[in-house]
Amino acid sequence: MTQSLLRGRLLTFHRAPEGPGDDTAYTYLEDGGLLIGDGLIRAMGPFAELRARAGDAPVTDHRPHLMMAGFIDTHIHFPQVQVIASWGAQLLDWLNTYTFPEEMRFASETHGAVMARAFFDQILAHGTTTAVAFCSVHRASAEAYFAEATRRNMRMLGGKVLMDRNAPEGLRDTPQGGYDDSTALIAAWHGRGRNGYVISPRFAITSSPEQMEMTGALARENPSCHIQTHLSENRDEIAYTAQLYPRARDYLDVYEGYGLLGPRTLLGHAIHLEEREIAALAESGAHPVFCPTSNLFLGSGLFDEGGLRARGIVSGIATDVGGGTSYSMLRTLDEGYKVLQLRGQALHPLRAFDWITRGNACVLGLEDRIGTLDPGSEADIVVLDARATPAMALRMERARTLAEELFVLQVMGDDRAIAEVYVAGVPTLSERPRERAAAG
Ligand code: GUN
Ligand code: ZN
Repeated sequence: MTQSLLRGRLLTFHRAPEGPGDDTAYTYLEDGGLLIGDGLIRAMGPFAELRARAGDAPVTDHRPHLMMAGFIDTHIHFPQVQVIASWGAQLLDWLNTYTFPEEMRFASETHGAVMARAFFDQILAHGTTTAVAFCSVHRASAEAYFAEATRRNMRMLGGKVLMDRNAPEGLRDTPQGGYDDSTALIAAWHGRGRNGYVISPRFAITSSPEQMEMTGALARENPSCHIQTHLSENRDEIAYTAQLYPRARDYLDVYEGYGLLGPRTLLGHAIHLEEREIAALAESGAHPVFCPTSNLFLGSGLFDEGGLRARGIVSGIATDVGGGTSYSMLRTLDEGYKVLQLRGQALHPLRAFDWITRGNACVLGLEDRIGTLDPGSEADIVVLDARATPAMALRMERARTLAEELFVLQVMGDDRAIAEVYVAGVPTLSERPRERAAAG
């Protein structure tokens, strides 16, 4: 086995830090080493110890930068790379005016393939090594997504959206067609390489009861697949859902009634929840996903992370591009901090960085594989530079602690703070020499 050794400041989390002084929740090494072999982290520890163990393995020295597990984005839309920054609308108008017309373009296999390359370039440039994506309704869009993920050997999850009504011609499947395409995609991609298939009913508004029924069958027949959808993002969406499903007790009950609720279920947004829905979320172990840049951009509302956590509910955090406005999990944390401030909840940077790494891995049930630098984990690693811009460097002159440095990254950082990204032990930013050179 060929091995390599990375050297740098190193941070990995063991559990969610409970407050500023909770220093047994993580390991921080000022001069740390990671021994990489066959795409996995073989050992983590003080560099000097690993150097002695590693024979003549080549060393890449990232000091003074900070090495951490690659970021995980638990909710993003692959066909919306050209929807970001669409002006003036809230959810339902935004979908009809901008998003649905754009997603129609993914009927073309060529367009899907070109956009897949662009999408993966973007997420990697922003330090994200795993994402959970909605593809378009077209089977070809999911084929393009998984083909690109496989080519890059990335751990990626996703699925074609199921949507058979309240969308334009060309963007609707049928209950049987959606079931057949999803089944074929699962057979082709789920568990192949590092890919995982996600059964993806878009939301209650765009799926008929017949489609929801077939989606329940997909979930029963494929229990190792995740399920993703949207929940209670916007007041008009909730009112329309109640009209379309008059017998449901509330929005969540639509999904619950078709057997779609469990620990592998990811529910984007989940902002305006009723008490019964919160109790059902806690009972089922399903995961709400906080999408702060999107929730602010679309004027959707303020997610209550602390309130849900107090009920034992474990939330993910995500970009939701293209309702979201950045691929960066650092920008996402920045906006998330502000949203939670408005709720009287101050997100501590140690908790924040745990959330976008180990925390999101736990939400996906993948914490044994990704999200930490523990030996045995897949070697998906991000290298962070907290002095990436002059303004950050100036602020860092006054930073004394690790938490302060993390907060500078969280509040001021973006793709410029990503010095390197490893996917299964292989550096990837060197694949983009032109962009790097242009950035100076
Ligand atoms: N609800 C249903 N589809 C979407 C989507 O594409 N983006 C967002 N933000 N919410 C949705
Ligand atoms: Zn979404």
